[in-house]
Amino acid sequence: MLTQSIVASPTYEFAADVRAGLTRPQQKELLSKYLYDDVGSALFEVISFLPEYGLTRADERLLRRHAPDVVEFLPAPVAVAELGSGSGKKTRWILEALCRRQRTSYYPIEISHTALAMCARELGDIDSISILGFEREYLDGLLEVAAQRRHGQHLLVLFLGSTIGNFDRPAGVNFLREVRHILVPGDAMLLGTDLMKSNSQLIAAYDDQLGVTAAFNLNLLARINRELDADFDLSHFKHVARINHEARSVEMHLLSTVQQTVTIPGAELLVEFLEGETIWTESSHKYSADEAFQLARESGFVCRAQWIDEEWPFAESLLIAE
Ligand code: AVI
Repeated sequence: MLTQSIVASPTYEFAADVRAGLTRPQQKELLSKYLYDDVGSALFEVISFLPEYGLTRADERLLRRHAPDVVEFLPAPVAVAELGSGSGKKTRWILEALCRRQRTSYYPIEISHTALAMCARELGDIDSISILGFEREYLDGLLEVAAQRRHGQHLLVLFLGSTIGNFDRPAGVNFLREVRHILVPGDAMLLGTDLMKSNSQLIAAYDDQLGVTAAFNLNLLARINRELDADFDLSHFKHVARINHEARSVEMHLLSTVQQTVTIPGAELLVEFLEGETIWTESSHKYSADEAFQLARESGFVCRAQWIDEEWPFAESLLIAE
């Protein structure tokens, strides 16, 4: 077992993105990728255990049951790159099935240093595996992985947990096209998509009773306080989950409960909030099972197989690059 990681250089993008998002003329917005600092990543782990949030367990169930079937469809030899590995727990099933067939290089790509370290710890005991983590944005990391591939070696890209749902639909297709450009024909992608369910189930999943999702969302303001020296008073903001029927998504917002002014020295910014005004922090789009086939066609893949969880509607789709 070999584990190591390649670390990102420091960036000032956070301040620039906070500034751009909070000075938007209509709806204030913060990019959802910033939910995942160390605290946010740990809170997301907790969310995955909540009874109301069945998404991660459905993803894991499908991988546990069908990993050998997935591996049967893959070309050989194949290395595995994962976009947003998280703790790596659910990836174990695929890696173990693959390692029974061949020595396997696994490249988790993550912006969270802590998640990357957890993932290497979680999976490092698998026989015949080598792990090289990339602390990078997805496409930058994937480009580096592709540059390392040996002659004749294929890639399996894992994009699990319905992370694609956090892109709006056109951006999701564009993202898959960009992934496809980095791949060669015959390479594969395993794509997890959360499927549409009832409004009450969706609201409960994104506004749980214990308040963990609220803490996950509010942590974004706490992060701005920590990293950009801001003075957000968290008791004056409230987590809200809303269904956007047109977009077929659940949106998370942070609602200002009073009229207030916040200063963010690290972004050279002073922001006014009206009472009831919100900051939009995330959208989670929900799909139909057929949409995975359409997504594949529109981005240069073909959907070769699909597995659906009955308990919590969720699809795992195997796409092959054409
Ligand atoms: C990572 N992503 C797919 C999760 C989702 O369901 O959109 C993030 C999340 N947000 C709130 N709860 C979980």
